[in-house]
Amino acid sequence: MGLYVKPIVIFFLIIGIHSISEEKFDEFAEYMRNKINNADNGHLATDSYSFKPLNNKPPKDFGTFDFIIVGAGATGSVIANRLSEKKCWKILLLEAGGYPSRFTDMPVNSIRSRLTKYNWGYLSEPQKYSCLGSRNEQCMYARGQGLGGTTLINGLVYSRGHPLDFDRWAAMGNPGWSYKDVLPLFKKSEGLLKNNPAAVVDWEYHNSAGPMHVEYIPTSDPQLNAWFEAQKTLKYNSTDTNSPKQVGFTHKPSCTRSGKRQDDATAFILPILTRTNLFVQTNALVTKIIIDENQISAKGVEFSYNRTIYRAFAKKEVIVSSGAINTPQLLMLSGIGPKDHLKEKCIKLVKDLPVGETLREHSAFWGLVFSTNYTEPIKPFKEYIREYLNGVGPFTIADGLRGISFFNTKYEPNPEYPDVEVIYFAGNCTSASAINTFHLKEETYNATFSTLEPAKCFQAAPVALHAQSVGYIKLKTNSPYDFPLINPNHLSDKDHKDIDTLYESIQLILKLTETDAMKKVDAKLGANPLPACKQHEFLSKDYWYCALGQLTMNMYHPVGSCPMGPDAKKAVVNHELKVYGVKKLRVADASVFPLTLAGHPNAPCVMIGEKLAELLKRDYSF
Ligand SMILES: Cc1cc2nc3c(=O)[nH]c(=O)nc-3n(C[C@H](O)[C@H](O)[C@H](O)COP(=O)(O)OP(=O)(O)OC[C@H]3O[C@@H](n4cnc5c(N)ncnc54)[C@H](O)[C@@H]3O)c2cc1C
Ligand SMILES: *[C@@H]1O[C@H](CO)[C@@H](O)[C@H](O)[C@H]1NC(C)=O
Ligand SMILES: *[C@@H]1O[C@H](CO)[C@@H](O)[C@H](O)[C@H]1NC(C)=O
Ligand SMILES: *[C@@H]1O[C@H](CO)[C@@H](O)[C@H](O)[C@H]1NC(C)=O
Ligand SMILES: *[C@@H]1O[C@H](CO)[C@@H](O)[C@H](O)[C@H]1NC(C)=O
Ligand SMILES: *[C@@H]1O[C@H](CO)[C@@H](O)[C@H](O)[C@H]1NC(C)=O
Repeated sequence: MGLYVKPIVIFFLIIGIHSISEEKFDEFAEYMRNKINNADNGHLATDSYSFKPLNNKPPKDFGTFDFIIVGAGATGSVIANRLSEKKCWKILLLEAGGYPSRFTDMPVNSIRSRLTKYNWGYLSEPQKYSCLGSRNEQCMYARGQGLGGTTLINGLVYSRGHPLDFDRWAAMGNPGWSYKDVLPLFKKSEGLLKNNPAAVVDWEYHNSAGPMHVEYIPTSDPQLNAWFEAQKTLKYNSTDTNSPKQVGFTHKPSCTRSGKRQDDATAFILPILTRTNLFVQTNALVTKIIIDENQISAKGVEFSYNRTIYRAFAKKEVIVSSGAINTPQLLMLSGIGPKDHLKEKCIKLVKDLPVGETLREHSAFWGLVFSTNYTEPIKPFKEYIREYLNGVGPFTIADGLRGISFFNTKYEPNPEYPDVEVIYFAGNCTSASAINTFHLKEETYNATFSTLEPAKCFQAAPVALHAQSVGYIKLKTNSPYDFPLINPNHLSDKDHKDIDTLYESIQLILKLTETDAMKKVDAKLGANPLPACKQHEFLSKDYWYCALGQLTMNMYHPVGSCPMGPDAKKAVVNHELKVYGVKKLRVADASVFPLTLAGHPNAPCVMIGEKLAELLKRDYSF
């Protein structure tokens, strides 16, 4: 079948860049300049109708496999790699998007890649309490499409979360998920390089030999040093944020290899494309899980490729790894979800489960931009490219994100357990694309991101790590080509704990910027009063609570929409990630997190992939 073409050519694009001739270098720079221009002028999809078949012909048979994995993102890539280690198992990996490219490889493209085909194109439902400074009160809801999934477009931070997070998962009735259980799985994937002498690494918690390359951003600058120095003044220390001593600060641990993005397909799939038992089908949108209604058992999937519907069958299991937005959508389209909602959408019920009812997110405040008198060197484009090819410079850094810090506010009694993260962005932190990547209203943009000189500024974004607010994923219609409805519902918790926590962290950040260390770089709040909050005295408590409603948005870390747990009334999968009441069907991705973590989801998703692969190898070995 001609669909399995593996783009061997991609290897030639990826290797050998380091030693290229002047002519090849110019070609590369020109290619990148064009890609960047096109991306900056790009626009996003509003639905998936480009996949809709052109006629109603019956589905074509795509064959039978042992396992079918739906979605090649952070989790699915790992599962495909580990399962295909068993030569006798035939694995089908289906992915809606295409391959990573030289454009996605270059970390500085992360922000603009969210305006391209590598992003599904979602916007949230209009919000009541957050994203009020965004157009139509809709938050941008970036999700990656392509092998690598959201790790093609993400900020590249490697951050696992705190041991207590996993111990809480276990204590909720999920045996096998305590920190003691998951630490070996984190270590199994990790390939950490301690390339920055300033970074603190406690090797008890790390591995240097796994396929997922992690390194620190290699350099510092006077402004970043001042930011760290300010934290020392307030008695916080440089630390290994991926060890139990998480509170403190670090240069960004980055999922890059010599400065090049290591999305999870580059780490786990591209190196194994030669395995003959792994079938990777890109540009394939799975529209339905085929379920045997007598057995209530998953038999396979239907997918649309080249505007034709195919059917593939699984002898052993179907694994849904489509991410926290698309996994609940696909389950509901297949009859697995809340009874009343499916009835309303005219979908025949297979199993009544709380799919999509608990979307959890990290809430982040994006309104704190500061000016300084440090000037980031601005270089010609080609010089940045040359630096990038040598593994250094700002083009190796996604989102301008250079440092992360974990704190705990008065709302978290255990001083070792962080409840707030503060993320430091610099270097073109006020770039013009912010207006689109955050879907901002012009007046919001004018009062914040546009006020500063791009080379003389930074942004400090506080994140509520244990946000209490709960949102949902629902279907708009019963068509797989319509986007689902996404409601993160930030800052909606009854106790106002989320907004109170973010307010505390704003005060902490302002305190940091008032230290001598930050005075030495002349740090000043750069934001002007938001027009929407002009009834409040600028910088008063009421002002900040108003501003929090305007500029609290996603951290882009949706989880929990098909949570694991012991009770099928509140959970969708059990601790072995089996969907309740449907045989031969598992979910493995960010949607199974029962709660948010004091970390970023990529590393935990990779861990979940390792975990499921071990469970399946155990269940099906003979
Ligand atoms: C802007 C941004 C910045 C971020 N920064 C960081 C960061 O710095 N560090 C970090 O750890 N995390 C970060 N994240 C989050 C992180 O990347 C995700 O949480 C993680 O990738 C989720 O993994 P997943 O396996 O659940 O889903 P994904 O990685 O999203 O993978 C799901 C895959 O399934 C495919 N798919 C979906 N539906 C279908 C279908 N019906 N048929 C076929 N294929 C389908 C998708 O195309 C996708 O490839 C960021 C995210 C964003 C958007
Ligand atoms: C920082 O380190 C010092 C000395 O080891 C220690 O006393 C202090 O508690 C640490 N601070 C934090 C916030 O962990
Ligand atoms: C896609 O479909 C068209 C029209 O049905 C067909 O001509 C073409 O060969 C198909 N391409 C692939 C790669 O299957
Ligand atoms: C920062 O912005 C300036 C001005 O737009 C641009 O010339 C430069 O290439 C940008 N630098 C980086 C690292 O993106
Ligand atoms: C935002 O600023 C631009 C440039 O100064 C100006 O043209 C525009 O009118 C402003 N928009 C709003 C809504 O204030
Ligand atoms: C920045 O401002 C501080 C405080 O005003 C001053 O001491 C320092 O010399 C300034 N640095 C530069 C590069 O202008």
